[in-house]
Amino acid sequence: MRNTLSSFARFWEILVMKPPKRSPMLLRTAVIIFSMVCGVFIFSVCLKQISTQARTTFMDFKVIDNHSQSILKLMNTHLLHYPKPSSFSRNECAHNPVLFFAILSNQRSGSGWFETLLNSHVNVSSYGEIFSVRERRQNVSSILLTLDKVYNLDWFNSASKNECSAATGLKWMLNQGLVEHHKEIAEYFNHRRVSIIFLFRRNLLRRMVSMLANSYDRYAKLLNGTHKAHVHSAEEAEILSKYKPIINSTSLLDDLKDMEMRSAKALEYFNSTRHIIVYYEDLMRNHTKLKDVQEFLGLPQMELTSRHVKIHRGPLSDHIQNWDDVNKTLKGTIYESFLEADY
Ligand SMILES: *[C@@H]1O[C@H](CO)[C@@H](O)[C@H](O)[C@H]1NC(C)=O
Ligand SMILES: *[C@@H]1O[C@H](CO)[C@@H](O)[C@H](O)[C@H]1NC(C)=O
Ligand SMILES: *[C@@H]1O[C@H](CO)[C@@H](O)[C@H](O)[C@H]1NC(C)=O
Ligand SMILES: *[C@@H]1O[C@H](CO)[C@@H](O)[C@H](O)[C@H]1NC(C)=O
Ligand SMILES: *[C@@H]1O[C@H](CO)[C@@H](O)[C@H](O)[C@H]1NC(C)=O
Ligand SMILES: *[C@@H]1O[C@H](CO)[C@@H](O)[C@H](O)[C@H]1NC(C)=O
Ligand SMILES: *[C@@H]1O[C@H](CO)[C@@H](O)[C@H](O)[C@H]1NC(C)=O
Ligand SMILES: *[C@@H]1O[C@H](CO)[C@@H](O)[C@H](O)[C@H]1NC(C)=O
Repeated sequence: MRNTLSSFARFWEILVMKPPKRSPMLLRTAVIIFSMVCGVFIFSVCLKQISTQARTTFMDFKVIDNHSQSILKLMNTHLLHYPKPSSFSRNECAHNPVLFFAILSNQRSGSGWFETLLNSHVNVSSYGEIFSVRERRQNVSSILLTLDKVYNLDWFNSASKNECSAATGLKWMLNQGLVEHHKEIAEYFNHRRVSIIFLFRRNLLRRMVSMLANSYDRYAKLLNGTHKAHVHSAEEAEILSKYKPIINSTSLLDDLKDMEMRSAKALEYFNSTRHIIVYYEDLMRNHTKLKDVQEFLGLPQMELTSRHVKIHRGPLSDHIQNWDDVNKTLKGTIYESFLEADY
């Protein structure tokens, strides 16, 4: 194109340098016609360049196939970011966009398992329960500073795959300052376009059993004198599940209602933020749900794995000391199905 343009320039020079003696009118017409031709030429060259560029971009997306679809959708909604961490260089992945997410959940809802599944993806960095540390959630400013560091990819722990992360985030329990400061956090999420994965457990009675057993083990330390919230073998699961908690049947209905309300409130607080709701039970039953999650995060699809082993298996009646009380209390209530359901 430069060559063509310079030959045009030379032509122009010749035209101007040799003032014709005969008719200035003829010259003016020639100049006008020449300018028009020139304009059309430049316009068409530009147009051709733009369309090649667009096609290349499109082809790039095409190459990553299915991934393209979700990425294109995310691009259009400005959900993708190009963070510039201050502690390292993203090197060859500097041009890969990153989606920001947060897993919002409750204790004993499978979020540990879920996060290990996500982190088994080569392009996911989910940094765990960062806000379990009290100082980080002391006030809104310390929360927002911490979030800035996470989404700038400047947070480091064993989950960091910083250079080539395509989705980065953390796991955050509702009772870790999230509900308390929901207004500012929702504003932050919307402003920085953070996507939320709500992870809830449908069977709140099972969640209650897991909570009671876990807090018992905090001091009983059943596994060779160490407390474990998650296990990696069937033997360890067996040992932990030997303990059968007693459930307060007097407060049971109120407690279940309360658990339900907390999750409903969180959904309401953050419902203007882009989100997906995932149920623990659905993940257990059907691993293909993880495909929906990967699509939501704009990730190339991968098989995800975790070493976590479920602790309380089989019917709930095996895991509650005062089962008859509990059974009687829930019979005929909206929570009756919790008695029977698996997982
Ligand atoms: C990708 O898309 C093709 C068709 O376009 C489909 O056959 C294939 O199952 C998809 N793969 C995944 C992992 O979704
Ligand atoms: C917020 O908490 C941090 C400690 O976590 C403290 O250093 C800081 O002064 C607090 N800021 C305000 C505004 O209270
Ligand atoms: C995922 O990670 C791999 C390996 O680090 C990298 O080559 C690839 O570009 C990354 N993909 C995306 C979509 O970021
Ligand atoms: C407890 O310790 C014994 C002996 O050191 C070991 O064989 C066993 O695997 C340990 N059990 C668990 C659950 O860690
Ligand atoms: C059971 O709940 C009731 C009502 O909240 C309470 O008064 C009672 O102390 C609780 N019992 C135990 C053993 O915690
Ligand atoms: C968010 O919650 C409010 C209050 O419950 C409700 O009125 C509104 O329709 C919800 N918005 C969305 C997008 O779900
Ligand atoms: C598993 O989930 C996928 C999508 O989430 C759905 O299409 C499929 O029917 C489900 N399979 C079963 C067996 O429930
Ligand atoms: C619950 O109690 C009823 C009797 O009221 C009994 O028929 C049923 O088998 C009990 N359910 C379980 C799971 O034990």
